[in-house]
Amino acid sequence: MEAAGGEGDVAAELRQRLAAGGQDHVLRFWPELDGAARRALAAELCRMDVAEINRFFRRARGDGGGAAAAAAGLDARMEPVPRDVLGSASRDRGLVPRWESRGLAEIAASRVAALLLAGGQGTRLGVPYPKGMCDVGLPSRKTLFHLQAQRLRRLQQMAEEQHGTPCHIPWYIMTSGRTMESTKEFFQKHRYFGLKKENVIFFQQGMLPALGFDGKILLEEKGKIAMAPDGNGGLYRALGSHGIMDDMEQRGVRSVHVYCVDNILVKVADPRFIGFCLEKGADCGAKVVEKTNPTEPVGVVCRVDGVYQVVEYSEISLGTAQQRGPDGRLLFNAGNIANHYFTTAFLKDVVNIYEPQLQHHVAEKKIPHVDITTGQLVQPEKPNGIKMEKFVFDIFQFSKKFVVYEVLREDEFSPLKNADSQNGKDNPTTARHALMSLHHCWVLNAGGHFVDENGTRIPAIPRLKDANDLPVECEISPLVSYGGEGLEQLVKDREFRTPLIIDEDGIHELVNNGV
Ligand code: UD1
Repeated sequence: MEAAGGEGDVAAELRQRLAAGGQDHVLRFWPELDGAARRALAAELCRMDVAEINRFFRRARGDGGGAAAAAAGLDARMEPVPRDVLGSASRDRGLVPRWESRGLAEIAASRVAALLLAGGQGTRLGVPYPKGMCDVGLPSRKTLFHLQAQRLRRLQQMAEEQHGTPCHIPWYIMTSGRTMESTKEFFQKHRYFGLKKENVIFFQQGMLPALGFDGKILLEEKGKIAMAPDGNGGLYRALGSHGIMDDMEQRGVRSVHVYCVDNILVKVADPRFIGFCLEKGADCGAKVVEKTNPTEPVGVVCRVDGVYQVVEYSEISLGTAQQRGPDGRLLFNAGNIANHYFTTAFLKDVVNIYEPQLQHHVAEKKIPHVDITTGQLVQPEKPNGIKMEKFVFDIFQFSKKFVVYEVLREDEFSPLKNADSQNGKDNPTTARHALMSLHHCWVLNAGGHFVDENGTRIPAIPRLKDANDLPVECEISPLVSYGGEGLEQLVKDREFRTPLIIDEDGIHELVNNGV
């Protein structure tokens, strides 16, 4: 390594520290780097705690009873969620109005926050921008961020109308090094979609290097470490290091709805879910849909050794996933839709006490990297290394009162994971169809009808059976209706041709004004 004044000193110091942790190979190409590349690499390495990374690796790989050891024999130790912690939006229909009004009262008191996990890289979807910026081709061309922001605005309005007090729902948005700048710019460009800027709070999760199977840090380029976000469970460290818990406390937030960015139907800060959790006195809750297909890529909420957790789709064996109960349903059917409820008191304990106890999950991946001996870029054909991630639901185990809230898939869950070209599931087309199909249903429930180009009524079969079914084109702005409410005065006994769009400016494509 060249000793070039101050730069050389920094490099020498770095090399010493890295060598102590057996990771000094990352400086192998230092002599080939120009000044800017050296500075960038040095800055990255200075932020890195090599001893901690090595410790994470050993623990994740199972030394001394880590995550891998804990996962061993998981199937035999899993039990389904017992009925007494479960609430259901359909089976307990009679209780839903009470839960909703409890949740709305809490929102009206400005004690509820939404927290969006948006630090993922969206590798499967393959877009070069954050997933929340995706437009799935709705008639309105709204993006996922836009829909979520408008749902929050509508909820605030509903809570204000019912309780007569102005309120706000702070929206915390977790991004990563890879998504922060573009996400912030997008919100600025769209003027926070009508929300108050001070109520949209961005913060950044941490990153970890990708490692070879031997625990050695991989280089993405000669002067660049292969870094990846540390999983959506990186949330808890980030909450502490960015002062988010203090911010919540100052604002008087008591309940937090944490959710993933990719579900087009997500009911952000759902008052029913929040009200249910409050009624049950829960400190932690998970929203689920019934998993019906054993191979569906959703985690399942269950108990392991008597403690609640999500067993991820990558961790459950096919045999266990296929087991059925006496009623013929899958035994492990509480499909995690990545919508969680936490009290701020619980989150505070997690951040201050439990976070260091969370263990990383290991994903074996094909990681492009620079070969340390030859300096050539390698595109592996089979997994060559690991990424370590914490998961957001790994804190369920610390809950003192855990509940599960089951909702209907067609009402609340259609995730955007894949590109249209990849396969027929969880892609922009299925997301768009799910939203339009739900909105079609809302119109029918509110007494509206659809007619074809000849004026003949379209049979009222709103639900799509498979990916080839085409939905009736219908989109209702979240500013008009959050969950199907308030539509009767607009649509009852009217006939519509499609596409039908109902937004804050009125009804578009309306054909007849009455039957
Ligand atoms: C996730 C759930 C899975 C659930 C499924 C439902 C986790 C760990 N798994 O799986 O149990 O059944 O959704 O759709 O939650 N993210 C970050 N930072 C990261 C990684 C991800 O913020 O470092 C965010 C993503 O932006 C996304 C969410 O976490 O909003 C979920 O990430 P993704 O990798 O898509 O999770 P899945 O594997 O689909």
